[in-house]
Amino acid sequence: VVGTDAAATTAANVVDAGGYDVLIGAGLLARTGDIAVAAAPAHRYAIVTDAHVGPLYAAAVQRVLRPGASEVFTIAAGEHAKTRETWQFITDQLLARGFGRDTTVLALGGGVVGDLAGFVAATFMRGVPVVQIPTTLLAMIDASIGGKTGVDTPAGKNLVGAFHAPRAVVCDPQVLATLDVPQLRSGLAEALKHGAIADRAYFLALAERSAAVVDPDSPSRDNAFITGVIHRSVQIKARVTREDPREQGVRKTLNFGHTVGHAIELLSGFSLRHGEAVAIGMVLEARAGERAGITEPGTSDTLAAALERAGLPVVRPAGPTPDAVIATMRGDKKARGGALAYAIPIRIGEMAGATTGFAVPLDDRLMLEVLA
Ligand SMILES: NC(=O)c1ccc[n+]([C@@H]2O[C@H](COP(=O)([O-])OP(=O)(O)OC[C@H]3O[C@@H](n4cnc5c(N)ncnc54)[C@H](O)[C@@H]3O)[C@@H](O)[C@H]2O)c1
Ligand SMILES: [Zn+2]
Repeated sequence: VVGTDAAATTAANVVDAGGYDVLIGAGLLARTGDIAVAAAPAHRYAIVTDAHVGPLYAAAVQRVLRPGASEVFTIAAGEHAKTRETWQFITDQLLARGFGRDTTVLALGGGVVGDLAGFVAATFMRGVPVVQIPTTLLAMIDASIGGKTGVDTPAGKNLVGAFHAPRAVVCDPQVLATLDVPQLRSGLAEALKHGAIADRAYFLALAERSAAVVDPDSPSRDNAFITGVIHRSVQIKARVTREDPREQGVRKTLNFGHTVGHAIELLSGFSLRHGEAVAIGMVLEARAGERAGITEPGTSDTLAAALERAGLPVVRPAGPTPDAVIATMRGDKKARGGALAYAIPIRIGEMAGATTGFAVPLDDRLMLEVLA
């Protein structure tokens, strides 16, 4: 999709996510215009971004588009902006500015912008193309790939949305230089999850060298290593979502740590970041798997050591009781009647339930024990 510029093409890693490419390379932000024009040509480009990211990077994206072809639409930064009201605000703005069917949305920001702008694209004029330009580690390796879009409601996260695959995803690791360390750690939790579910060697390498990603002293970060992490994680996420776009089977493995994690995140009133909650969730779910005789003993300790080394929490926060965590998980949209099902590892790098759709039912009693 990057056209005829052979030098630039070779500078970027390209991963096929099933009908669209994920491009990874330092400096790609300045080429986003060309990439968007090639992957999703349109009369006008709507750059949707947030109040933190827009001032930093919107001009670089706009510069390479035909003068007058693009406009920037800015939402407030943070999860609380991922609502139907913001969706309405942006779609009304697009209509007021005369944007029509021949529009491509460019989602420039973290997962909040990606989900919100993706949902705008899924619904505006019954659907227009979107190009994802993720600017957080989490959005690069997770949120921007797989086509899930949507908004939160007072009843819970991501409850209204649509599947709407992007035409292209552009990951420029250089933009991570302005991201704060807790946010990098949150992304790293998902990268460690990718290793835990699919690639033991990747997990071990990442556990060993997590400081190269999250060192607060940003000059000592290793950009080549970070680019490699993005590449490997994108490969894993892309392969899984390509195989199972609608989450009927193997895509459920990506939920490792998330059944417990979502509940803890919600009960913390979002004072825990998503990646922090997932870190705790992975350790507790693996521990429950060990008690059920599914997970190799020691797996939860290996996970905990790696996560702690990366500066992530690994024990349940003191506030919510184990019963409250279970009750919250039962309220989660993924819960069906009967025993709660989880994504459970057999060992680091391999998940249980390959013949039964990767949803492993565990007795509440086991989960209560590990939560206690
Ligand atoms: N669609 C999916 O498959 C999927 C998967 C995982 C997560 N998500 C969603 O992603 C969201 C979380 O995404 P997130 O962690 O990226 O959070 P976010 O989008 O809120 O970004 C975190 C913060 O970092 C700022 N920021 C972003 N990029 C920056 C940069 N380069 N420099 C400086 N500041 C920057 C943002 O303005 C924000 O304040 C959640 O809403 C979650 O539901 C979706
Ligand atoms: Zn997640």
